[in-house]
Amino acid sequence: MKIGKDITAAKALLENGQLVAIPTETVYGLAANGMDAIAVATIFDAKQRPSFNPLILHVADQTAWRGLVRNVPPKAQLLADAFWPGPITLVLPKADVVPDIVTAGNDTVAVRMPAHEMTRELLSSLNFPLAAPSANPSGYISPTLPEHVFAQLGDRVAYILDGGPSSVGVESTIVKVIGDDVTILRFGGLPVEDIEAVVGKVLLPERKSYVEAPGMLASHYAPDKRVLLGNKKELWLANKKEKLLVLNFSELLPEVPEKRQLLLSAKGDLKEAAAALFGHLRALDAMQGALIIAEMVPDIGLGKAINDRLRRAAAERSL
Ligand code: TXA
Ligand code: MG
Repeated sequence: MKIGKDITAAKALLENGQLVAIPTETVYGLAANGMDAIAVATIFDAKQRPSFNPLILHVADQTAWRGLVRNVPPKAQLLADAFWPGPITLVLPKADVVPDIVTAGNDTVAVRMPAHEMTRELLSSLNFPLAAPSANPSGYISPTLPEHVFAQLGDRVAYILDGGPSSVGVESTIVKVIGDDVTILRFGGLPVEDIEAVVGKVLLPERKSYVEAPGMLASHYAPDKRVLLGNKKELWLANKKEKLLVLNFSELLPEVPEKRQLLLSAKGDLKEAAAALFGHLRALDAMQGALIIAEMVPDIGLGKAINDRLRRAAAERSL
């Protein structure tokens, strides 16, 4: 069986340069030996990921990551102590041992200590970090269940380690720490408010940066169906033309049949909403209908990550 809970089998495959999907608290990752440039190249190939898009190195403990970075700014140490293991990735000056393919030639490297018990046990048993992007074809919705990985990359991975549903449901918050500057590069599973409580004011991502960065597309985390960020008026207008599906935050729209809409959280809880987001987008993508209307959520805490993913799911796609 390709999906299972055999950590020893996963370890042996990874040591042999193969790809294994791993559970994390955020989303499932597509992992390979992060020190083996050839193994890492198979990740890019399996995902059809552009080679300019760097990968995160996943580590087991506080000592494992220090060898991967050139220096540890004091604020990076504070964040690591406060939040690892957990849904934050630190982008730091890269050490020479890290293969260039991992960082796409950048002089920084992204490191993270995931909180999922099975993956922590796996990482502790390995003597290398795991390079792992989310385990989805490039540009598509990230997986929060082993079955999501199997459906799309089942023939590209040697094994899928089954750790159940990802509890957080959106990817890690990515934070670059250079000297005294702390910059959020991607909103994610750790709210910015929590980060600022530890290191003070941070710089926020420039909206244009992910559009203008070389070759980067604003479109990401996207279902195959078109997504519209909607209010009820837009919804009504669109309804005249196309079969629509609805993703709402906490209240069902009375004008839409119940089987054509999903709620992120009936009680309006952002944690619950984040955990449900990608699974619901996948479910809507599989239903009959041409267009998904999605409602934004309150822009606080985890809501910033949810809204970021919805905006990208709705962004114009080139090509
Ligand atoms: O929660 C997560 O972060 C998940 C789980 C599997 O750990 N991983 C994940 O990886 O979301 P991926 O590859 O899908 O997204 C990582 C993001 C990419 O947008 C990449 O451009 C950025 O991190 N990144 C990686 N290294 C970087 C670097 N050195 N500088 C700036 N951005 C970097
Ligand atoms: Mg990804």
